[in-house]
Amino acid sequence: MAAVGRSAPGTRLLLVLLAAPLLHVAVCLEPISMGIAIAAASAITGYMSFPEFYCGRLVECCRVDKPLNSTALQADLKENLFGQHLAQEVIYRAMTGFMSTENPKKPLALSLHGWTGTGKNFVSKMIVENIYELGMQSKFVHLFVSTVHFPHNSLIPLYKDQLQSWIRGNTSRCARSIFIFDEMDKLHPGLIDAIKPFLDYYEHIDGVSYRKAIFIFLSNAGGDLINRQMLDFWNSGKKREDLQLKDMENVLSVGLFNNNNSGFWHSGLIEKNLIDYFVPFLPLEYSHVKKCVLAELRHRGFEEDEELASQVAAEMTYSPKEYKLFSDKGCKTVSAKLSLHL
Ligand SMILES: *[C@@H]1O[C@H](CO)[C@@H](O)[C@H](O)[C@H]1NC(C)=O
Ligand SMILES: *[C@@H]1O[C@H](CO)[C@@H](O)[C@H](O)[C@H]1NC(C)=O
Ligand SMILES: *[C@@H]1O[C@H](CO)[C@@H](O)[C@H](O)[C@H]1NC(C)=O
Repeated sequence: MAAVGRSAPGTRLLLVLLAAPLLHVAVCLEPISMGIAIAAASAITGYMSFPEFYCGRLVECCRVDKPLNSTALQADLKENLFGQHLAQEVIYRAMTGFMSTENPKKPLALSLHGWTGTGKNFVSKMIVENIYELGMQSKFVHLFVSTVHFPHNSLIPLYKDQLQSWIRGNTSRCARSIFIFDEMDKLHPGLIDAIKPFLDYYEHIDGVSYRKAIFIFLSNAGGDLINRQMLDFWNSGKKREDLQLKDMENVLSVGLFNNNNSGFWHSGLIEKNLIDYFVPFLPLEYSHVKKCVLAELRHRGFEEDEELASQVAAEMTYSPKEYKLFSDKGCKTVSAKLSLHL
């Protein structure tokens, strides 16, 4: 019962059984009449759309055919992600493009780069929540953290088999599965190789198609390059918002390619063009940290308090030394710092 498709006959039966008080006559009818009975019952109870009736209420469904609400995603990105105009743009473009393609040629692979606390995890959650209501709790969403899930180098062969069988097993149950790999820069090259075939342009592998799946890779790799570029830009007197994607793209792909520690360079993920989008996360400034504090206050049900926000933002450390421009931990410790004040 783990991954129920939209029209699995078993689900219909389950629905009828669960909705028995409403439709106890329907149980003995044939499937088609049952469908009609349910549609009628749905209409009566105000649930006009059949999948919407049981998906989410009775059982979580694999949302392979559900369109993305791009308006909602855009609003979400605009209102809740601070200081990341490039990431906003790329994520929006990537998600709307991929989700509206009926037969994508490969799964979507996003690689998110930037310093800690700049919003990489936050955006991943946002993407997930715009597809599955249960968000990270959804059984179709799988998070792997390198140091937590794959800590021992001696066990790499085991991890490799496990990881491949999980990706295969979950995707065969639900084509719109989402796999998130955090700390990608700490992931063993052997495991990156293990993921590689799933990202490629195959129609299917052993009967399973991966083309509707979504892979999100998070890493700090390239963070220093992004920050240096941002600092140069600032030093030349330009506005942050004028920084364009092309200013970053080159820096990032060349930098990652040549950097020993990026966890990518030897993997062939870049070389074989298996990553669809590199998403740069810019270092956050004082004003962005302040916005994070205000958002956190709202989230906890408090009034917005400018003074308190300034105070908390000022407690963060900023670099480089001579300018004190970028928050060292982005917005990461905002929540904990705020708790000390409340
Ligand atoms: C999409 O999201 C917007 C904003 O959250 C909402 O107003 C609208 O009803 C949604 N559209 C659909 C089709 O769900
Ligand atoms: C799906 O992935 C999870 C890990 O997120 C794993 O525990 C589970 O066994 C996988 N399911 C299948 C059917 O492979
Ligand atoms: C790669 O690592 C080696 C030793 O760890 C170092 O000497 C070399 O400069 C590094 N190359 C790059 C491009 O970072």
